Amino acid sequence: MSTDVVPNPLRDARDRRIPRVAGPCVLVMFGVTGDLASKKLLPAIYDLANRGLLPPGFSLVGFARRDWADEDFAQLTYNAVKAHARTPFRDAVWQQVSEGVRFVPGEFGDDAAFDLLARTVAELDAERGTGGNYAFYLSIPPKAFPEVVQQLKRSGLSDAPPPAGPGQPQPWRRVVIEKPFGHDLASARELNSMLDAVFPRNAVFRIDHYLGKETVQNLLALRFANTMWEPIWNRSYVDHVQISMAEDIGIGGRAGYYDGIGAARDVVQNHLLQLLALTAMEEPLSFDADSLRAEKEKALSAVRIPGDLATGTARGQYAAGWQGGVEVCGFLEEDGIPADSVTESYAAVRLTVDTRRWAGVPFYLRTGKRLPSRMTEIALIFQRAPHLPFAATDTEELGQNALVIRVQPDEGITVRFGSKVPGSAMEVRDVNMDFAYGESFTESSPEAYERLLLDVLIGDPPLFPRQEEVELSWRILDPIEEFWTDHLKPDQYPAGTQGPASADELLARDGRAWRRL
Ligand code: BG6
Repeated sequence: MSTDVVPNPLRDARDRRIPRVAGPCVLVMFGVTGDLASKKLLPAIYDLANRGLLPPGFSLVGFARRDWADEDFAQLTYNAVKAHARTPFRDAVWQQVSEGVRFVPGEFGDDAAFDLLARTVAELDAERGTGGNYAFYLSIPPKAFPEVVQQLKRSGLSDAPPPAGPGQPQPWRRVVIEKPFGHDLASARELNSMLDAVFPRNAVFRIDHYLGKETVQNLLALRFANTMWEPIWNRSYVDHVQISMAEDIGIGGRAGYYDGIGAARDVVQNHLLQLLALTAMEEPLSFDADSLRAEKEKALSAVRIPGDLATGTARGQYAAGWQGGVEVCGFLEEDGIPADSVTESYAAVRLTVDTRRWAGVPFYLRTGKRLPSRMTEIALIFQRAPHLPFAATDTEELGQNALVIRVQPDEGITVRFGSKVPGSAMEVRDVNMDFAYGESFTESSPEAYERLLLDVLIGDPPLFPRQEEVELSWRILDPIEEFWTDHLKPDQYPAGTQGPASADELLARDGRAWRRL
């Protein structure tokens, strides 16, 4: 990293546009020994502290089934920060963070452990002035949500006490849950009523980390801060939209979670439908939570699945192959995956959005593991010019105009259009005009989890999907999942390739082709 893009803690600390956490508080994390905690959550806490965005007195309590003392959890946090923090390591900041680190050992079913947790946070209130403000982060397998939420209730941790005295602020309690929010509509509703019975609606923060990504928030700026896109952002100009989220990794050690869930539930139901909603929605009245969510919900309510699911969807499973010069095993050979598993590692679907803006414009969504590269993008592919006053040979290399929002990596935006090749012949060929974050800004982008954790502590909800969005997304996916269960086995595709042939056929039938990954 060159020196001019190293985040400047003093600038963030002084930037009054970044909202502040109102007062000291405790973040209680369940699932601290998991991958997400080490790679994303714990480093994000340090990065926020390093940027001067956490209040003094901020405290972090880890809860896990380990016979650990506070120092052991502090060591785990330190290792995670050293390995994965985005901002430079500064000893003074680490010392400040580590003073507030506590650990509570226990199982989710253990009442005594939760009583100890309640005493631990009460001690932090007394020692570090955290004022009864607690956020509970459930980075745990979804099947454990009910038990933990019930324990929070039983031990009194979910109920905020009244203000400490006249003129004192009302302490808050918040709960953060990671996707997936259920595995279908019915289970999402069940999860929601369980949460509803314990926490007020505005205290539940559902994390879809794609919404925390800078490039995803930039969709709002691109669409609503500019004038040039709006006139063409509709069915009169757009031929179709491709939303892709490709990964080169396999399922790694996540068989226990992934088998039975699959690519559509893991990624399409949440990340990709959120990207679709932000692309398809109308301009919100403002960016407050209610206005933004209302527009996304309208877009999701207008989504229609293909009439014929056999030709309008595709699903695949990676077979053994070569990935970046390394030979890798197939999905069915992964540790913990049954040899007869029918879980898909690749999913593609054609959706439409039945609104005046989008009638007749297909939105093709695809996601998969063990594809050639890691890449997420939203591509608006425009219609061809209605008339080309050129000889046919002049435009042989002219494709369709495109606007591509590169969500990751190589964050930026590309506009593709035809241009005359220099020379005496009138030959037109596609060229790209490019905006790259790395070239236009000296600031590096915060990690999605930095933004989302900060918003939880502030209590700012616009970037968190509410239950209605979750339900609308399951309404879209449930019939597809049901059809797949009854009719469509995943097609094999060799690791490192573009995905199953059935996904190419899906677009070919419409006279289109996927962008290359
Ligand atoms: C998670 C999925 O939500 O997103 C994972 O459960 C996937 O399967 C991950 O690997 C990808 O996130 P990102 O930010 O690397 O695109």
